[in-house]
Amino acid sequence: MSTKEKVLQYLEQHKGESISGQDLADKLEVSRTSVWKAVNGLKKEGYQIEATTNKGYQLSIDTDLLSEAAIVPLLSEALKGHRVIAHKTIDSTNLEAKRIVNEDPTFEGVILSEEQTKGRGRLGRVFYSPSESGLYMSLVLRPVADLDNATLITTAAAVAVCQAIETLTGKKPQIKWVNDIFLDGRKVCGILTEGIMDMESRTIGTIILGIGLNFREPETDFPDEIQSIAGTLFDKKNAAVTRNQMVAEILNRFYLLYPDLVKRSYLDEYRKRCFVLGEQVTFPQGNETIEAKAIAIDNDGGLVVALPNGKTKILTFGEISI
Ligand code: BTN
Repeated sequence: MSTKEKVLQYLEQHKGESISGQDLADKLEVSRTSVWKAVNGLKKEGYQIEATTNKGYQLSIDTDLLSEAAIVPLLSEALKGHRVIAHKTIDSTNLEAKRIVNEDPTFEGVILSEEQTKGRGRLGRVFYSPSESGLYMSLVLRPVADLDNATLITTAAAVAVCQAIETLTGKKPQIKWVNDIFLDGRKVCGILTEGIMDMESRTIGTIILGIGLNFREPETDFPDEIQSIAGTLFDKKNAAVTRNQMVAEILNRFYLLYPDLVKRSYLDEYRKRCFVLGEQVTFPQGNETIEAKAIAIDNDGGLVVALPNGKTKILTFGEISI
């Protein structure tokens, strides 16, 4: 870890507290000059570090920039050794994850970015990803027990995100099958799961799980096409938690569920949070739009619907309207 990263990690863990340059240098076993250089570097990156003559350095409690230094200390044992890579800007964290896996097929970890210039949504859509207001993250996963069922992974991720939001904010998010998370009737999070084929074994060798969460209201409004549907966890100012805390909580929650995915124990919680059950929904089939009643979530995360002719059908992917 570089001195800059060490300084940041210390200040993040002691946010709002002051420490003199000398004490910090002693604690980190580096020179006072290198602490000074590190602090200057961090300030240039946008960290609000106050320096007072008597008290020393202090990271403002309002600082909320995504960083490895702030996230790693909050991660559970299950995530030790996983890489956390935070970018200021990137085309898409899912695309970056794919590039990393191409270079290093053993990579395990998470890619984050403050903004995405080509954020990707499901069904070829764009995912609006402005700077500093959202959480854009991609987890690089190995399939567990030869299981490459993207719907199961997506539904587990949806539960983990809901649990993380509820734990940190007390708010009660709900799920619109299959992967949209809603709060107060508005979509606050979307999930895009993509598999990378291992050419030799012709199986899915790596899964990229992309999560986009609208954390606080963006500086400029949401684009017209999503304005009536998109919501955020917090308004522009009053976030009770930091995005780094939210990232760590989502990762911790997800990695509690993921190793036991085959047991599907999380599916009951998914069902409880899924607000489409019991509702009339529509979905596209060829050139037609079919109307049906959503009646259950099956053991693979599929949506069971009752058709007007009395038959049932299982939807395994795609999008429904309600
Ligand atoms: C959807 O609602 O259509 C899915 C949105 C998924 C967005 C996330 S943001 C992080 C990751 N990188 C991307 O380009 N997309 C996913």
